Amino acid sequence: MTAYTKIAIETTNLTKRYGKFTAVNNLNLSIRQGEIFGFLGPNGAGKSTTIRMLCGLLEPTSGEGSIGGYNINREPEKVKEQIGYMSQSFGLYQDLTVEENLRFYGRLYIADRKTCLSSIEEAIELVQLQRYRKTLAARLSGGWRQRLALACSVVHKPQIIFLDEPTAGIDPVSRRTLWDFLYELSHAGTTLFITTHYMEEAERCNRIGFIWQGNLVACSTPEGLKKDYITRQLLNLKCTPIDKAYKLLKSSDAICDVNFYGDELHISVNDAEQAMPELARILAQEGIHVALLEEIQPSIEDVFVSLAQEKNNDSQNQRPSV
Ligand SMILES: Nc1ncnc2c1ncn2[C@@H]1O[C@H](COP(=O)(O)OP(=O)(O)OP(=O)(O)O)[C@@H](O)[C@H]1O
Ligand SMILES: [Mg+2]
Repeated sequence: MTAYTKIAIETTNLTKRYGKFTAVNNLNLSIRQGEIFGFLGPNGAGKSTTIRMLCGLLEPTSGEGSIGGYNINREPEKVKEQIGYMSQSFGLYQDLTVEENLRFYGRLYIADRKTCLSSIEEAIELVQLQRYRKTLAARLSGGWRQRLALACSVVHKPQIIFLDEPTAGIDPVSRRTLWDFLYELSHAGTTLFITTHYMEEAERCNRIGFIWQGNLVACSTPEGLKKDYITRQLLNLKCTPIDKAYKLLKSSDAICDVNFYGDELHISVNDAEQAMPELARILAQEGIHVALLEEIQPSIEDVFVSLAQEKNNDSQNQRPSV
């Protein structure tokens, strides 16, 4: 990432309440120009609500925010000129072709006809939609529709782009292509605020904010998060039968925690070297066949799971007894 110093997105105690329910609680963020900021959190955590407030589409209950130096409460029209927004259910016109959809969104923002046409061509090329330009949006597959939605939200070359789960339902190869495109934008100085449930995408962000029940509970680089939140060492176990191993380990004092990770188990321990022979012995004793037991570096998914468990435990402990 080029080191820009200008702040693109800033919030101070940004809050949204629906009646007694707080969807976003005192959010403080500061995101530099050119940054790819990943906003992670479980379903219902407050990600889309935050984005809608930052785009000037939803009035905050309290707090402040600025986008490209413009205040979201007082200058929503200026804010809209700065941004591109791809919502979770981006509004494509199903009965218009790819080209016509782009023309519609282009003309909303670009007054000059020639500039508009050349921007549309650039957008088509960027997301590689050339061969579908005359296809109706309704006829595109889900992944191609997502690409068109992305092209529509960036056709006017905004400085700051909000992408709410832009790659949901897209195949891994296309996702990689889209990320190459996002990197290109970021290198050119565009700021990207992106939500995703794909952990390997989170790893690609410059910084990650983790929101939990409306509260920002962690915010750092992917490496910083791993250092801060994975204080123990991690083992990867491949074995059969895996369910039996999980149950056995879950109730074992030899480990700190165990979680499924695809068809493997991730086990957190205080000392990997000490734990490995002990675990091998325990598993063998129960007739579990170990195909692989090795120490691994934690991923952002491990951080996510660890944070989610920590927060779940906290809220259970705070629950009043009846
Ligand atoms: N208009 C509304 N009235 C009441 N509650 C709302 C309203 N809009 C959103 N909420 C609630 O606010 C919370 C945050 O919703 P939000 O859409 O921001 O979550 P999210 O983090 O984007 O989740 P997801 O990952 O599922 O997209 C949810 O509990 C949701 O039900
Ligand atoms: Mg959402």
